[in-house]
Amino acid sequence: MIVARTIDELNAARRDLIGEIGFVPTMGALHVGHLSLIERAKKENGFVVVSVYVNPAQFGADEDFERYPRREETDIALCRAAKVDLLFMPKNVYGKDEPTISAPPIGASILEGEIRPGHFDGVLTVIMKMLHLIKPKRVYFGKKDAQQLWLIAKMVSAFFMEIEVVACETARESNGLALSSRNAYLSEGEKNDALKLSQSLFEASKLIKKNEIKSSAIIEAIAKTLAPLTIDYVSIVDREFKPIKTIKKGETIILIAARAGATRLIDNMWI
Ligand code: PAJ
Repeated sequence: MIVARTIDELNAARRDLIGEIGFVPTMGALHVGHLSLIERAKKENGFVVVSVYVNPAQFGADEDFERYPRREETDIALCRAAKVDLLFMPKNVYGKDEPTISAPPIGASILEGEIRPGHFDGVLTVIMKMLHLIKPKRVYFGKKDAQQLWLIAKMVSAFFMEIEVVACETARESNGLALSSRNAYLSEGEKNDALKLSQSLFEASKLIKKNEIKSSAIIEAIAKTLAPLTIDYVSIVDREFKPIKTIKKGETIILIAARAGATRLIDNMWI
């Protein structure tokens, strides 16, 4: 595995990868969720490139950029063990006074975008840069960050980029908790509270199986289970992120965001 730390090193190593490339962009502190994306990319492509870059542009001024977990050595070892071909770990990918990508004004002003203004501009800008650098055939994202996945797919389509955006299932701990680098912030007590996110989604799924398809009833049930946490939102949308009143199989995503202590957590379920 080659570890490229500069754009020049990346370009030199990229030139040697002749064939289909699967790309997994990350912010590091890699966990089984990231590794499941890498594994899928490995199966579907001749080469796998992973990036580890804590992108300053997607963090708000009062967010956790400084304390975001950085585990360079472990990340390198995990990528090597996963047989990644090229690991891109740049210090910085930005210049001065550059053009940036504006996320869709409507799609990026709801849900995560409402609570984190500017967040998706930062995500789309860094992903645009990374896609131009890596030039993959396929790029892999987790359904866990559903709105991010949707907006990136919209960007790739809007800019006529010939890249396949692959949506991957959410990896969970055996207790249901969706894996996230931010779980590292949780105390034992908070971890217990955090379990309420997945628990509320599993309960919702049971209700839906029993034919409760009214969004308002499902939202109410989820909010009840989440009660000990501070809820940012519970929302039921279609695949275009429009709120819907009734749940339809194959067309619905239930999205939740809540805080356990100071840590913001998101989870969702695709119905
Ligand atoms: P990060 O949070 O490191 O996540 C990198 C990728 O892993 C994203 O596509 C995310 O959806 C996916 N992922 C995270 N947790 C997962 C889980 N439990 N199961 C499956 N996939 C999971 O998302 C980002 O970084 C950044 O915003 C990035 C896209 C890299 C742009 O900076």
